[in-house]
Amino acid sequence: MSAPEAEPMWWRSAVVYQVYPRSFADSDGDGIGDLPGVISHLSHLADLGVDALWLSPFYSSPQADGGYDISDHYDVDPLFGDIVDAEDLIEAAHRHGLKVIVCMVPNHTSDRHPWFLAAAHESPGSPARERYIIRDGRGATGELPPNNWHSAFGGPAWTRLPDGQWYLHLFDPRQPDLNWEHPEVRAEFADILRYWLDNGVDGFCIDTAHGLVKADGLPDWRPRHGPTAQREADESRAPMWDQDAVHDVYRTWRAIIDTYPGRVLIAGARVSAPDRLAHYVGRDQMHQAINFEYLQTPWHAPALRRVIDASLATTSAVGAPSTWMLSNHDVVRHATRFGYPPEAPLPSGIGPADPQPDRDLGLRRARAATLLMLALPGAAYLYQGEELGLPEHTELPDDLRQDLVWRRSGGASLGRDGCRVPLPWKGHPPCGGFGPETASWLPQPDGWADYALDRQRDDPSSTYTMYWYALRLRRFFRLGLGTLRWMDFGPDVVAFTNGDVLVVSNLGDTAVLLPGGEPPLHSSIELTDPASVPTDATVWVLRVGEY
Ligand code: GLC
Repeated sequence: MSAPEAEPMWWRSAVVYQVYPRSFADSDGDGIGDLPGVISHLSHLADLGVDALWLSPFYSSPQADGGYDISDHYDVDPLFGDIVDAEDLIEAAHRHGLKVIVCMVPNHTSDRHPWFLAAAHESPGSPARERYIIRDGRGATGELPPNNWHSAFGGPAWTRLPDGQWYLHLFDPRQPDLNWEHPEVRAEFADILRYWLDNGVDGFCIDTAHGLVKADGLPDWRPRHGPTAQREADESRAPMWDQDAVHDVYRTWRAIIDTYPGRVLIAGARVSAPDRLAHYVGRDQMHQAINFEYLQTPWHAPALRRVIDASLATTSAVGAPSTWMLSNHDVVRHATRFGYPPEAPLPSGIGPADPQPDRDLGLRRARAATLLMLALPGAAYLYQGEELGLPEHTELPDDLRQDLVWRRSGGASLGRDGCRVPLPWKGHPPCGGFGPETASWLPQPDGWADYALDRQRDDPSSTYTMYWYALRLRRFFRLGLGTLRWMDFGPDVVAFTNGDVLVVSNLGDTAVLLPGGEPPLHSSIELTDPASVPTDATVWVLRVGEY
């Protein structure tokens, strides 16, 4: 089965919709979303007007980390269906004119992967151990871990095997890190890529792309900002992240994928700055990279202008498009994030005991931020449910939390469940149309029905309709392929032209007057005065005059 004849550079301006299969739609009533559920809602994605779907992992997995712990890369977890469902999904998506991007998780496997089972079973020094990073400990009897590294989920990055050796896991102990110096590891992933390419996928998003290669000798490392501060700037030069030799891996992968025209590699690499990220993209490596810096930028005009400028400059220097993203399965949804003051630190989960966001403000700013993002040149990434204006579940009781981050951090971090709540498709029970049964793996909060797709689809003022229309205009005016030229409307305003469209996002306290008096094309809220942009709103205007 092969992908349909592709517009060769479709990915440069694509709108990519992330599906977290567990929470998208449940076809069989077990309370967990699945691949047939995704198939049954493909028409929604096609109607919405996105170009591609990007599936979080659906491979065989003990599900310690929502499927990011893979035990068989060639098969589908029974929770989500089987390999025929995956093939059907790829085919059905193509029939709907949608590309399919799948996640690839090369940094680690599950501890239930046959390779790790063999490594753990065999004795120190055996070849099976070479595929992972397994070392003797320090101290008189090897009782101390080989170095002082910490796991990104909290706690030490090493776990001891019964025979006394230690294995490295930058994430959970159930996610042992592979040894990317080993030729068999490299050969195996080349096979996995080819297998899914032959099954028709249009691309891969590479999870933890900055992690595969570790510094020689695995030296100790003391971060300036605390042991688990994965996102801190100084960490990108840490011995476990962003090592130059990782790029050899991606050069090999690019050579493979170039033999399948129209397919794409996307880097999910958390590095310190846009210039480090640019190393992952370009003619001999990946086609584009997730822009985590933009994702973390607060609703603050100077910060937004800075990150947009830096992103465009560094990616265009290597001939790649920039990308933009506001939400995903790891962060608090932007409709909730923006309901806190911009200077508030980014929380990892919000609970009933925490200060609650200003919901109306959050949604208003989220809509404005979305219209800003969708007007930027490059590719835009949406996370399922943001087109409904879904907020985070901020009142999930602790006993219902599922994310391993919650348990592993001893409750210090509430984890990522709040952005992974099953979608409401219908404004009535059971489960808001998520599935045939009343219970879902995470409960939907009260009031979820108001966000349901069937309540929004025919409402011209709904968030869904705002996305729907924006995606049509974006395509019509080819904004994804355009060029940004800044306009000066004052320090608290992000304003630019992109081809025939003027975009004005007002983050200040007073309304901003539009030039020329041309009628707006689109706006993030209903305008009472078509000649001015109110606070926390974005307006797109057809540019008629010269400015
Ligand atoms: C990536 C994924 C995250 C996962 C982690 C470990 O950061 O986005 O969900 O927990 O990798 O695989």
